[in-house]
Amino acid sequence: MNRVTLRRLIALSARLLLPLFLLGPATALAQPRTETIAIIGTGNVGSTLGRIWAAAGHRIVYGSRTPETDRVRNLVEETGNGASATSQADAASQAEIVLIPIPPTAIPDVMAALGDLTGKIVIDPTNWWEFEDGIAVSPRDPRDSLAAQVQALAPGASVVKAFNTLNYTVMQNPSLSDGPVSVPIAGNDPAAKQRVARLAVDAGLEPLDVGPLQFAEYLEEMLRLAIGFRELNPGQAFDFYLRLRPN
Ligand SMILES: NC(=O)c1ccc[n+]([C@@H]2O[C@H](COP(=O)([O-])OP(=O)(O)OC[C@H]3O[C@@H](n4cnc5c(N)ncnc54)[C@H](OP(=O)(O)O)[C@@H]3O)[C@@H](O)[C@H]2O)c1
Repeated sequence: MNRVTLRRLIALSARLLLPLFLLGPATALAQPRTETIAIIGTGNVGSTLGRIWAAAGHRIVYGSRTPETDRVRNLVEETGNGASATSQADAASQAEIVLIPIPPTAIPDVMAALGDLTGKIVIDPTNWWEFEDGIAVSPRDPRDSLAAQVQALAPGASVVKAFNTLNYTVMQNPSLSDGPVSVPIAGNDPAAKQRVARLAVDAGLEPLDVGPLQFAEYLEEMLRLAIGFRELNPGQAFDFYLRLRPN
């Protein structure tokens, strides 16, 4: 079975299960079938999710510092389904959903460049770690997650932490992991989380609403654990698979 077929099968089964994972069948069915998504950043994560979501029928607008370069033009062509590239601010103005796959150090400048994001969903996949003796540690103030910083810079937006706990190579090809891969989602707006969950399903991944945006701090720690393990165990990595059970 090829990767595309496998991704479609995983997406189909996850889509059937999505209402059980999140808010209930009626809410799930009320979601738009296709989204316009601004992806601010054309690196590993942005280009990977852009291609995947376009293949799932969504329209992608890349927001780049260099939208006119051959590299970004090629990405737009590869993405297809009416994709385009423009400035960061123009991309955000065209979409209800804005993904920010950028270096964490760029968050203040990029959020300022994006302008007023009131009413939009901002998906934050950012992570920040440094190594001390092979252990991945946080260089940030532990009281303030990156997602909390993003929310403070866009107070009128619904910020959702998601897609930060898995490597982009697994997003490209979920079957690299020998089983389902979770996308834990944290945010304060249930409807926003539902739309982000649908995008995870479209990528062949399994969304799980883990709680409020306050929990983004723990999702950022999950990534540090995975990165630290990889550093200490050359040639090995793990992916997170979380599943619900009665308590
Ligand atoms: N790599 C992974 O597997 C992975 C997985 C999950 C989460 N993450 C997190 O997701 C974020 C993006 O990761 P990535 O691997 O996609 O990074 P990347 O390949 O370095 O891409 C980051 C993109 O951000 C844009 N950008 C905007 N302002 C920037 C600035 N001041 N300096 C540099 N780039 C800037 C650039 O796009 P333009 O040149 O088009 O402006 C750049 O291509 C990071 O926070 C990372 O920790 C990464």
